[in-house]
Amino acid sequence: MPLPSRTRRRLLRHLGTLGALGATAAGMAGAARTAATSASADLCTTPPRFDTPLLVPRGDGVMGRLTLGNRRVALRAAPYGNHGALAFVTRVDRRDYFDPTLVARTGDSVRITLANSMDEPTIAHWHGLTIDTANDGNGDVLVAPGRTIDYAFTVRNRAGLYWYHPHPHGATAGQAYRGLFGLIAVEDDEELALRRTLQLAPGETEIPLVLHDRRSTTPLQYAASVEDLLHGWYGDEILVNFTPRPFLDVTARRYRFRVLNASNARIFRLGLSRDNGAPMPFLLIGTDGGLLEEPIAVTELFLAPAERADLLVDFVDLSVGGFVLLESRAFDPMHAELRPRRSSESPDEGHAHAAPANGAVSSGSDGGAFAMLQFRIRGRAETRPPLPARLSVPVVQPAPGGDERPLRLGFAKGRWRINDRVYDMNATPIVVARAAVETWLIRNYHSSMPHAMHLHGFQFRVIERETSPEQLAPLVIDARGRLATDLGWKDTVLVWPGESVRIAIDFRHPFAGDQIYLFHCHNLEHEDGGMMLRVKVA
Ligand code: C2O
Ligand code: CU
Ligand code: CU
Repeated sequence: MPLPSRTRRRLLRHLGTLGALGATAAGMAGAARTAATSASADLCTTPPRFDTPLLVPRGDGVMGRLTLGNRRVALRAAPYGNHGALAFVTRVDRRDYFDPTLVARTGDSVRITLANSMDEPTIAHWHGLTIDTANDGNGDVLVAPGRTIDYAFTVRNRAGLYWYHPHPHGATAGQAYRGLFGLIAVEDDEELALRRTLQLAPGETEIPLVLHDRRSTTPLQYAASVEDLLHGWYGDEILVNFTPRPFLDVTARRYRFRVLNASNARIFRLGLSRDNGAPMPFLLIGTDGGLLEEPIAVTELFLAPAERADLLVDFVDLSVGGFVLLESRAFDPMHAELRPRRSSESPDEGHAHAAPANGAVSSGSDGGAFAMLQFRIRGRAETRPPLPARLSVPVVQPAPGGDERPLRLGFAKGRWRINDRVYDMNATPIVVARAAVETWLIRNYHSSMPHAMHLHGFQFRVIERETSPEQLAPLVIDARGRLATDLGWKDTVLVWPGESVRIAIDFRHPFAGDQIYLFHCHNLEHEDGGMMLRVKVA
């Protein structure tokens, strides 16, 4: 069936932009493969090449901003292009959206119909939202191919960057990897005030950066090996907003970047560096659950799968013609304990490479150094609004009462486990009283790897980190061992091997009857493998 030419043009534009999904990926695939399979020395000398304009979501199209308002939106989970990619698609007011950024106001009534046009069951989960079980999309109910499901819920969260992604147990990783996910931008008065004060405009000076890694295969294929299932599925190229090797032209002013790590397994150690190689500090202004009370100056931060970081970056000191790189710095991935040893292996293989290449990393590993995005300074701004001292009014959480709930993360009999258990959809090993405020003590064994632990339905606070690995030491900013990213509302927290992390969760909720939520690792291979427990709030 021939498409009307406008629609066709649009589609071609989108497919072009999503180069990694289509034929344009082939060139990169070759380059990345060469880099990945040769010695790390080659990676270091690969000249950075950022030749594709970053996809910046504006009106419609890929990641386009779709204001939900109070209308019913029909989302369809569908194949995208002919290369194995998937997307949530919708058409509103004769505009097409692919993985739209759903824009809502706190208090909005959201009504979404999800249709499944794929050949496997799916369900959408609204990650980070305060929501009842019936609308949470936790995987108990699936949408079969050709069927639909209706969601209806009120947006109860404060402003923040949340997201939505598939959650069919055992098949989440493959669907998410193939591109089936999108952002949810919740706005409230504080958020709009901040934008006014800083003169930020979405799509211009406020830009989401969705980071994820891909294996440069055409078609896009998810076929995890036993080792991938153990460590997670790592790609060999990094995409930012689905764009490989991206650059963004900026003016020498302040920008807000709202970063989501949408990778299945990869952890980023995010930083910025100037064209002379010097690290460039920036401000952390928000975390998973919205704005911090005040900005925190940082030089780097770890961002695990599903975590978000809201950043202010000031390009004002840079000269026109210069550039800044968004990079992931080298770190110890701490997977070594479980890695099957091969005699030919050199001790530091799979660990950090010394210098950034442009988004090409060796697959099967984490912790390499690479640059992901180049900001090119193209002009100067006329005005420079002052930074507000206070970003948001503190939301005080009642102090936890009673005993700590221990949660141990470990590996046994071929599976990653929480308290020695794997997921059982008929069991609720954690039962919480609905009015309770609890402390959870999440302890990761030494012979483990980092796990990004996520709780559905609630935002929590990190209250303490203990026995953290040495590489966190430079990032610790208070006497309780916390990091800058621990000081806001969180729904996902990274727990390193040997580390203990205490979180406080307020389980009050407004929903009638018992509710079931999930607590799981957001390394999607671990989640699909059953590193997940049901939590009943009764
Ligand atoms: Cu973002 Cu249960 O997940
Ligand atoms: Cu979630
Ligand atoms: Cu895990």
